[in-house]
Amino acid sequence: MKQDSNDSPSPIIEFHNVSFSYEKSRSIYENINFSINKGEILGIAGNSGSGKTTLAYLIKGIIPHAIKGNRYSGEIIVDGHLVHKTKLASLAQTTGMVFQDLNAQLFSNTVLDEVKFGLLNLKMNPKLALDALQNLNIIDLKDRIPMNLSAGQKQRVILASIIALQPKILILDEPSIHLDYRNKIALMHWLTRLNLEMNMTILIASNDPWLIGQMCEEILYIKDHQISRKLKSELMSKRSLWMWNHAT
Ligand SMILES: Nc1ncnc2c1ncn2[C@@H]1O[C@H](COP(=O)(O)OP(=O)(O)O)[C@@H](O)[C@H]1O
Ligand SMILES: [Mg+2]
Repeated sequence: MKQDSNDSPSPIIEFHNVSFSYEKSRSIYENINFSINKGEILGIAGNSGSGKTTLAYLIKGIIPHAIKGNRYSGEIIVDGHLVHKTKLASLAQTTGMVFQDLNAQLFSNTVLDEVKFGLLNLKMNPKLALDALQNLNIIDLKDRIPMNLSAGQKQRVILASIIALQPKILILDEPSIHLDYRNKIALMHWLTRLNLEMNMTILIASNDPWLIGQMCEEILYIKDHQISRKLKSELMSKRSLWMWNHAT
């Protein structure tokens, strides 16, 4: 577990007795408690439909600000802000998210404009866009049309547009779903760099045991409306990485 340079680990995400349901009859989370320290890289795992994306939305504040749901109780504190009392725009500066659907996040005519968009929106210096493209080694794509790029390139453009905003937390939802092996390795490289160089806290929601196995020592494991922190070794056997469904 990584920590700030000198002092004891400080939580950047805290869940206190959090319950959530979209619909009256079906609860997603019941009385959840956990915390995540600054600079950690954690996996989020669980069966399809268990609530991985929902957890990302709760941290990012999409729930309850854009999706209200039927029941939201307890407190989620992200970088000192009580999520349900903080405006989405302020939360956006703290938490960046790469959504599963890459195309839904790309709407500009050029890669450079795509990266500038978020900066202008948050009234930050648009010149930071070039730094972000350089940082992710895609400056040569700056005049390309984002929609025409490969999945790996699209993902890197989205990462650049998030990194430009210098968020403290980065959440990726199923980031490897469209990537081949080479692009998965590249993604791992960028994530490791962001973590090491910016002490960025990184959460990876994924059904890809290989990616999680390579990147994360600990995992937030979702089962039966509960979330427990588990060591990677508790979920993955040496013989087979694909043990999620049988873990308790
Ligand atoms: N906007 C929504 N309204 C109602 N139900 C939803 C909504 N989004 C997701 N769900 C349901 O909540 C459950 C958890 O979904 P999700 O967080 O997307 O799971 P995962 O990402 O682990 O596959 C699923 O049963 C899903 O159908
Ligand atoms: Mg999901």
